[in-house]
Amino acid sequence: MTRIAIIIGSTRPGRNGEAVAHWVFDIAKQRDDAEYELVDIADYHLPHLDEAMPPSLGQYAHPHTKAWAATIASFDGFVFVTPEYNHSTSGALKNAIDFLFAEWNNKAAGFVSYGAVGGARAVEHLRLVMGELMVADVRNQVALSLHTDFENYSRFTPAPHQIEAVGAVLDQVVAWSTALAALRVQAA
Ligand SMILES: Cc1cc2nc3c(=O)[nH]c(=O)nc-3n(C[C@H](O)[C@H](O)[C@H](O)COP(=O)(O)O)c2cc1C
Repeated sequence: MTRIAIIIGSTRPGRNGEAVAHWVFDIAKQRDDAEYELVDIADYHLPHLDEAMPPSLGQYAHPHTKAWAATIASFDGFVFVTPEYNHSTSGALKNAIDFLFAEWNNKAAGFVSYGAVGGARAVEHLRLVMGELMVADVRNQVALSLHTDFENYSRFTPAPHQIEAVGAVLDQVVAWSTALAALRVQAA
């Protein structure tokens, strides 16, 4: 069955990302079209990229890289849950993405973002990164507002219509992740 990771893209203490990702996971678990798992980049304790060889060569030296690579390789598609930091994604998520290459290739991704304007600018940056990694990023997006989907910018209270928005992203990520399976077989 198609496997989709819901990736928590922030690591700071008190992060909103955890509540948002669990909410996405709870919605996803009610579906039977794929296997969904939560992946927390904080669990991998990745330092700033410390591999000597370019990730595209796949010659990973460090145990933390190998563990992260094994996790990402086991999925067919991704939902990145990203904050907006200074009009981009978090440095921690960008660093975690940069560690790998082949493990991302020929898979699909969708985005759930949050920020003052829904994290829209963070996702636009991530879409550029996805192109280089040969990840097919889907059109729909969940853009959560710090003003209306949170109380005091910290208690997550998503508006009801956002549940439907998550469903649309998952529909597209599962469809494209499944369709790209043929390419992943050729590349293996
Ligand atoms: C370093 C930093 C930079 C930020 N820059 C922006 C920004 O450019 N645009 C925005 O809408 N929110 C910005 N914010 C607010 C965050 O989107 C908000 O605090 C969000 O909850 C952060 O995600 P997290 O709680 O999962 O870490 C910034 C927050 C931090 C910590």
